Amino acid sequence: MTYSVDRIESTQFNQTDPDMNLHIIILAAGQGTRMRSSLPKVLHPLAGRPLLGHVLATAHALQANQVHLVYGHGGDQVRAAIDAPGIDWVEQAEQLGTGHAVMQAMPNVPDDAVVLILYGDVPLIQKTTLEPLVALAADSKLGLLTAVVEDATGYGRICRNAEHQITGIVEHKDADEAQLQIREFNTGFLACPANLLRGWLNNLSNDNSQGEYYLTDIVAQARQDDVAIEAVMPGQLEEVLGVNNRQQLAQLERVYQRWQADALMLSGVTLNDPARLDVRGELTVGQDTTIDVNCVFEGRVEIGANVSIGPNCYVKNIKLGDGVTVLANCVLEDAVIGDGARIGPFARIRPGTLLAANTHVGNFVEIKKSTIGEGSKVNHLSYIGDTEMGKGVNIGAGTITCNYDGANKHKTIIGDNAFIGSDTQLVAPVEVMAGATLGAGTTLTKTAPEGELTLSRAKQITISGWKRPVKGKK
Ligand code: UD1
Ligand code: CA
Repeated sequence: MTYSVDRIESTQFNQTDPDMNLHIIILAAGQGTRMRSSLPKVLHPLAGRPLLGHVLATAHALQANQVHLVYGHGGDQVRAAIDAPGIDWVEQAEQLGTGHAVMQAMPNVPDDAVVLILYGDVPLIQKTTLEPLVALAADSKLGLLTAVVEDATGYGRICRNAEHQITGIVEHKDADEAQLQIREFNTGFLACPANLLRGWLNNLSNDNSQGEYYLTDIVAQARQDDVAIEAVMPGQLEEVLGVNNRQQLAQLERVYQRWQADALMLSGVTLNDPARLDVRGELTVGQDTTIDVNCVFEGRVEIGANVSIGPNCYVKNIKLGDGVTVLANCVLEDAVIGDGARIGPFARIRPGTLLAANTHVGNFVEIKKSTIGEGSKVNHLSYIGDTEMGKGVNIGAGTITCNYDGANKHKTIIGDNAFIGSDTQLVAPVEVMAGATLGAGTTLTKTAPEGELTLSRAKQITISGWKRPVKGKK
């Protein structure tokens, strides 16, 4: 059984109304000054993907009918970097507050829609947390995502009456002494029917300490209009944490990585240290696989069962079969590796490589765009490029395919059960036929015939009585 860590989803969710017209508005117009970066904040990567990319993935997972992205600062850069067809890009030229930001998107939101507000700089929010929020809005309620902490400094506070009903949100800067004691805070995430939201937004004023149009002021209006207001809490507090500086970015990176590690361990993978694993993409791993410390997985990586990966490996876009052993310090990229293969330590597998089952690739071996047939061995200090190698081949230490003439790349073909002596150069294009043997040190420029011994070697001579030179006197 395999488990995809890209989809940490609960199975108990019952899909909301399939007829629901879900419009998601993502606020991402803030300047991100505290990042101190020429890159817009929402483009900074978390687990190798822009913050905004995480939010868009969640919007996609919720099956939004339409996503509206409110952008401001660095908008062109954001648009160029985010490849998400079908997004409604909405410019908010001046940042006049969260309410004002949402207003910019409303002309493209129909009255029958359910609106969900997300944030471009709050990347870890989970689908499972948002679903009940959306369900409230689908039920004509105003759904707020709130959380409780010891110290809610800086956040908007949730005001409730004696019956525990929500009556409004007061921003930290506008709160009085008593309100500042409230520990339930507004995460900013909310959902409600579009027609209600439109009316409330039209009534907003900026008469507050920050001179901004607060989205949070819709809550008191909902109360006045007798619209039911209900709060939902996030599955985990980290889901609602935003990124304002690089320290917070690093903290959320660790949270995200810990979640990946936990999911892997629960699915039957041993991690020698869950704090020293980085997954930057989609990783699936079979049962009873062990991953040692400091491994980085990028892109789409599929690892079979009973695999052992040694410390300090970099693995990108790789498919590894069952029972593979990767020893320490290997770099594997864009390759397919068959069952029972053994790689490393210190091996580099480059794009376009296919290692068949039970192959061995040893230390200081580089393999590029080559097929290595079943059971073949390249154990020491070799470069194999643009090569088609059959089964049961043995490549001696220090063998090099000379695949490049300075202008073009050429192919080397090595037949089944060939034996290549150490320190051989195969000057491509060239072929070693099945069962051929090459003597050590051969520089092969012509076909090595099937089953024969071929070698190119200067005749060994001994000059008897030869004396070593000695240093002259000064
Ligand atoms: C907001 C909430 C506060 C909540 C907090 C949670 C309001 C008025 N307050 O406060 O109750 O506790 O978030 O973090 O909503 N943005 C725009 N355009 C704007 C202003 C903001 O796109 O004109 C975006 C920002 O990029 C950011 C988000 O909205 O992603 C929140 O804005 P921010 O200024 O950080 O709101 P807070 O003051 O933190
Ligand atoms: Ca904020």
